[in-house]
Amino acid sequence: MACPDRFTMMTLQLCVTLFGLLVLGLADDVKLKPKPATKPVRLFTDDDLKKYDGSEEGQPIYMAIKGVVFDVTMGKEFYGKGAPYNVLVGKDSTRAVAKMSLDPADLTSDITGLSEEQIQSLEGVFEGTYKKKYPIVGYTTMRILNQDGSPNDDFKPEDQPHFDTKDEF
Ligand code: HEM
Repeated sequence: MACPDRFTMMTLQLCVTLFGLLVLGLADDVKLKPKPATKPVRLFTDDDLKKYDGSEEGQPIYMAIKGVVFDVTMGKEFYGKGAPYNVLVGKDSTRAVAKMSLDPADLTSDITGLSEEQIQSLEGVFEGTYKKKYPIVGYTTMRILNQDGSPNDDFKPEDQPHFDTKDEF
């Protein structure tokens, strides 16, 4: 069998070295370069949320369910000014969605006394419509803080839907 000559060996070694550097370089790129930051997740007070009630043309429309704030601008035909579900936006409408009610008394995050069926219906709409259709832009303070302003110990960023920016907290 013919032995590779010195020149061929050197060329081979060079190729192996260059390939190695390329692989290391790519690995470094993957490791060192953080992914571009996704939009920061916001914490909304009731007053913050009120500003996004669809009353101003061209402004985003936000609505919260279970303390998760969705950007529902894309569903303007449902939620915009004069649209059938406009009363639901600019606030947390968990109860209204659970009961499929537009009664002003139900335009609240309070779920006290809801039936098992209503809770299940809420979950269905939350998962099947809102989480599928609309981007999450933040959370309401109610989800993260207790009524008295103390931290809600049950809040775990990793449990939150679409939540992958743990460091925000
Ligand atoms: C006569 C009564 C009602 C009729 C005929 C009706 C009809 C509809 C229709 C046709 C859609 C659109 C489905 C689609 O194309 O994706 C829809 C969506 C919806 N409806 Fe109603 N609806 C009624 C009452 C209500 C009430 C009382 C609520 C109270 C919360 C409600 C909440 C919703 C919600 C949250 C959606 C999803 C909108 C979205 O995709 O963003 N509906 N409804």
